[in-house]
Amino acid sequence: MLSMRATAKTKGIKPKHVKDLIPLMILMVIIFLLLLFWENELDEDAVAATLEQLHVDYPQSDIPMRYCNHMIIQRVIKEPNNTCKKDHFFIHERPRNINGVCNSPRRVPCQNHSPGLCFLSEIEFKMTVCKLIEGTRYPACNYRVFTTEGFIVVTCDDMRPSKIQRYTE
Ligand SMILES: *[C@@H]1O[C@H](CO)[C@@H](O)[C@H](O)[C@H]1NC(C)=O
Repeated sequence: MLSMRATAKTKGIKPKHVKDLIPLMILMVIIFLLLLFWENELDEDAVAATLEQLHVDYPQSDIPMRYCNHMIIQRVIKEPNNTCKKDHFFIHERPRNINGVCNSPRRVPCQNHSPGLCFLSEIEFKMTVCKLIEGTRYPACNYRVFTTEGFIVVTCDDMRPSKIQRYTE
């Protein structure tokens, strides 16, 4: 589009030639709509937004220092009463594979008698665990970073994860 405009300027396209561009413009609108549609299709592959917001960082954000402190603020991870969460973990795995845990044959009991079906992943996922070392009131929370790999337990509704319960190493 930009280069086309630039050409138009230098060569001075006459107004009657502008209508020659209309099929091209229509084509571009169609491509744009296709891209939009395609992107929505991809969304189908994404885990639920709140769950992703809470627990998924893929590919892992390039935060060289204080990964946890940074992510906890960026993702607004806190207790409902505005205190610091004691621990939290971020999974570095593509959403498709996290959704796939709902197809795992490894059914496990859900914790705290929460409703739904819980599944244990068949493979270990890379993750970062954040443990609170200092602070009570969000956002003044200071976390220590641990990188690990572990199996995750998710609650599934309609074969899609609705909650990531915990991980086990
Ligand atoms: C805030 O909520 C957390 C988790 O539910 C609880 O452990 C903590 O005692 C609460 N703190 C206050 C000050 O109410």
